[in-house]
Parts: sequence; C-alpha cells; structure tokens
Amino acid sequence: MLDDISSMFMSLEPRHFRVFTGIEVGMKFHEWVPVDEVSKYTKLDISQLNYVLKDLGHRGLLRRQTVPYEGYQIYFEGYDLLALNALVKRDSLSAIGDELGVGKESVVYEGLRDMVGGLGQQPVILKFHREGRTSFKQVKRKREHLDGVHHFSWIYAARLAAKREFEVLNRLYPEVSVPEPVDHNRNVIVMAIAEGSELSKTKVLDPEWYLDRILEQVGAAYAKGVVHGDLSEYNVFVSDEKVTVIDWPQYLEVEHEKAGEFLERDVRNVLAFFKRKYGLERDLEGVVRGVAGK
Ligand SMILES: Nc1ncnc2c1ncn2[C@@H]1O[C@H](COP(=O)(O)OP(=O)(O)OP(=O)(O)O)[C@@H](O)[C@H]1O
Ligand SMILES: [Mg+2]
Repeated sequence: MLDDISSMFMSLEPRHFRVFTGIEVGMKFHEWVPVDEVSKYTKLDISQLNYVLKDLGHRGLLRRQTVPYEGYQIYFEGYDLLALNALVKRDSLSAIGDELGVGKESVVYEGLRDMVGGLGQQPVILKFHREGRTSFKQVKRKREHLDGVHHFSWIYAARLAAKREFEVLNRLYPEVSVPEPVDHNRNVIVMAIAEGSELSKTKVLDPEWYLDRILEQVGAAYAKGVVHGDLSEYNVFVSDEKVTVIDWPQYLEVEHEKAGEFLERDVRNVLAFFKRKYGLERDLEGVVRGVAGK
C-alpha cells in the first residue's frame, strides 16, 4: 500500500487517470500493455503521454518493461487509485483518513462521505481487497507454462472478493447486524463503521448477553441462506447496545456441501473464545442445531 494514498490521490490529474484506465483496459489482453495501445486509448499526444508515464513511474504507480518492447502494467497501487477515483466521482467518498489495519487479505482505511442534503459527513470504512496478491506471485513464478493467461488474475480475484462481500452485505443488511454497505468499485468497498471495538480486544461485562447476540446473528444469517465461514472474536465488533459481524467475502450458501462444516466451525470458534475468556460453557451441537433452526 502507498504510504500516503490520500495525498497521492489529491496530486493526480485527470490525464493520470486516463493513462491508468488505458493500461487497465489493455491488461485484459496483454501482460505488458504496449505503449501504442495506451496512446490509442488516452488520445494524449506522445510527448504528454511520455511525461505522464514517466511521472507515474517515478511515483511507483506503474511497472514498466523495455524488452522485448516498451510496455506497462498497473498493480494494486494504481488499481486502488482508480477505484477511489470512481467512488469520489459518484459521491460515495469525500476524504480518505488513517489506515486502521492490514488483514491477511485486505487493507482497511477510515474515510468520510458527504451525506445527502448537506447534512454533514459520515465516517466510513474503506476496505481494499488484496485477494490475488499471493496467487499472483505464484502465478508469476510458474508463468512460462501459463502463456500469459493469468496476467490479470490478481485484479480478478480482488475485484471478485469485493463484489461478493458487497453483495452479501446488501443481502444481509439490516436484518443481520453487519456494517451498512455504501458502495463498491473494483477491489474497494465503502461501508459504515462498525460501532464499538473488536470483541477480541474488549472486556465485556455481560458475556452471556453478548454471546447470545452473536449467535442470534449467526442464526439470522443462516435464515437468509448464508454461513459466514470465518467467524471468530476478530470479526465481531461489540458496543454497549449491539454486536456487528464484519468480514464476509468467504461466506458460503447454506446449500453448499461444506456449509454445515463451516457453520459448526464458526460456532465452535465463538464458543471456544467465550469459554477461554469468560468461562462460559455451551453445548456445541445444541447451539449449532439452534442457529440452523433445527
Ligand atoms: N466496518 C468496519 N468497521 C470498523 N472496523 C472495520 C470494519 N471493517 C474492517 N474493520 C477493521 O479492519 C480489520 C480488517 O478487516 P476484515 O476483517 O474485514 O479484513 P481481513 O483482511 O479479512 O482481515 P483478517 O484477515 O485480519 O480477518 C478488522 O479486523 C477491523 O479492525
Ligand atoms: Mg477479519
């Protein structure tokens, strides 16, 4: 991730984004997009185009090869900026704030969004998906055999994960307590901030009540056909009034052959945490049957 994505974003001009978009489009067909194709797309004259390409290269936003021909690639840095540009243009985002954390498969930032009717600004979360990152490296190592087919697999994986997560949030919200989804573009999701703090980092005074609320959410999601699939104390936020379950891209449909197994694992993780930290005992099988409405 860029050190200061916000000031980088602010310093870019429309022609920078045109060049990014030209390369993004070209990457559907080329691993390294020939400079002629970028030029055709952007319609910038060659000296302007060269200036912008050089400038983006200096900023670490482009990758370049010169042999056997001059060609360009974007990676997550550029892709993130393209997504931000789209989100800002359609008023889903007005400012980018601090980085909140780096997960296994995402980078999460705070942001702000103008509310409709000039009602001030709403703090939001920006989740930059990173799913293709490791497989991209593996693909790179094996590339000789793949004949360039997978050169945009990281874009595909990260974009698909963001789309999946955004869609499932829409499906679950508001009946299930998940962050309100706001918008998504490419690999980035904008959503409301979960209230309170991570369950793993919080000492709650009434653990029974919180455990019941979490299991209620698991049951409500199941009733809508969804199993979280990565539930733990790290993906639950708790406040005085409620719990919120975050981090849904790996969810499973209840019809999935492994849904039962993952539901049980989700419940087991939660019960194990409450047992370890608060000494609460619940019967796993009974709880799983309960949340699955059986
Ligand atoms: N809506 C939200 N409100 C508040 N904080 C959030 C929200 N979404 C994500 N975060 C913060 O960002 C962290 C990473 O987000 P998330 O768990 O969705 O991604 P992840 O990459 O799957 O992370 P991990 O691999 O650590 O589970 C969370 O643990 C949480 O601290
Ligand atoms: Mg998480």
